[in-house]
Amino acid sequence: MPSGVVIREGATDILVPSDHSIHGPGTIKGSVFFNEQMAFNRDVSVMLLRALDRNLTVADAMAATGSRSVRIANEVPGTEVVANDISPEAVSFIDANIELNALSNCRSSNRNMHSLFAEESFDYVDLDPFGSPVPFIQSAIRGCRRKGILAVTATDTAPLAGAHAVKCRRRYQSEPVRGYMCHEGGLRILMCTVARELAKFDRGMRPLLSFYADHYFRTYVQIVEGAEAADSALSRLGYLQYDTETLERSVSPEKDAVHRYGPFWTGPLHDPEILSRMSHLGLSDERRSFKYLNLWRGEIDTEVFVYDMSELSSHVKMSPPKIDEFMEFLNGHGHAAKSHVSPSSFKTDIPLRDLLSLYREFSPDAVR
Ligand SMILES: C[S@@+](CC[C@H](N)C(=O)[O-])C[C@H]1O[C@@H](n2cnc3c(N)ncnc32)[C@H](O)[C@@H]1O
Repeated sequence: MPSGVVIREGATDILVPSDHSIHGPGTIKGSVFFNEQMAFNRDVSVMLLRALDRNLTVADAMAATGSRSVRIANEVPGTEVVANDISPEAVSFIDANIELNALSNCRSSNRNMHSLFAEESFDYVDLDPFGSPVPFIQSAIRGCRRKGILAVTATDTAPLAGAHAVKCRRRYQSEPVRGYMCHEGGLRILMCTVARELAKFDRGMRPLLSFYADHYFRTYVQIVEGAEAADSALSRLGYLQYDTETLERSVSPEKDAVHRYGPFWTGPLHDPEILSRMSHLGLSDERRSFKYLNLWRGEIDTEVFVYDMSELSSHVKMSPPKIDEFMEFLNGHGHAAKSHVSPSSFKTDIPLRDLLSLYREFSPDAVR
């Protein structure tokens, strides 16, 4: 058995290297990667797979210590899990974790994920690489059975959120947006990439849950089989116009002189039905899981791209009101709700001109 420390996440014990990452994107500190902060990411997998409420074959393509694999095998009834990693050191942790939790529904695999998915396919495939998932998405798609579910993490936040635009163009063939929309933009570029890769196989997608948290983007999509579904997914890609002087924004299916950011996925981020069946109970961080569940459930998923309280405040040159009170006020004039991407962001169907005058009216600086 490899040496390390045993931590508890949810209902599962996990042996991890003593020298592991606690915060941030995480680096390999010992021989095998583990990041405590990703416990929430693993919690979400458990919540979502439990909500599907059916027997599933699962492949954790890049399992490292097998933390996600053993949590799924232990905490989601009806799962048969393959915990795969290319590194033999990782597999010794995976084997130890299978034994530690006495799991008969989880087995380790020491393969390059590309060759694993050339031979085997699964109902659910999880892709959690270091940095960009782009080099691995095609193989992961091959590894998804008919109508399977694909989950993808991207930790290359700087390119996707526009801090390294050149890298984003190269990797994702998309123009990222900077500023207050950058995290929603990054998430939608990742989803656009998944849709375009699926389309090459005559497959479309229905997003189940997609989010930005901490330092990473994550999307879960249900594959919809057929050329028609692929075309329909491609029809949800679009380009953004954003004028930082006026705050005007619009989305167009075609690229033109002003709609120059993107392409982005412009369809929904979530499936409300699956969200309604997800529960935070018994997870590693119940409070955080409950908070995000409520944010995702409340989000206006028909609107593409958030506003931000600071963006409006610097535009109208007035202090921002409290966001919860402002949402309540806006809901008297249209539909508005907070977004999960940042504590100061929200979406609304109220036209920009009206939104700005409502903001001026509600700012604490307003003369009443
Ligand atoms: C970020 S870590 C995975 C973290 C893990 N999912 C967790 O929740 O702790 C990425 C892992 O991918 C593995 N890896 C890299 N390339 C691979 C490949 N081609 N096939 C399989 N595993 C690979 C690395 O050995 C590493 O353990």
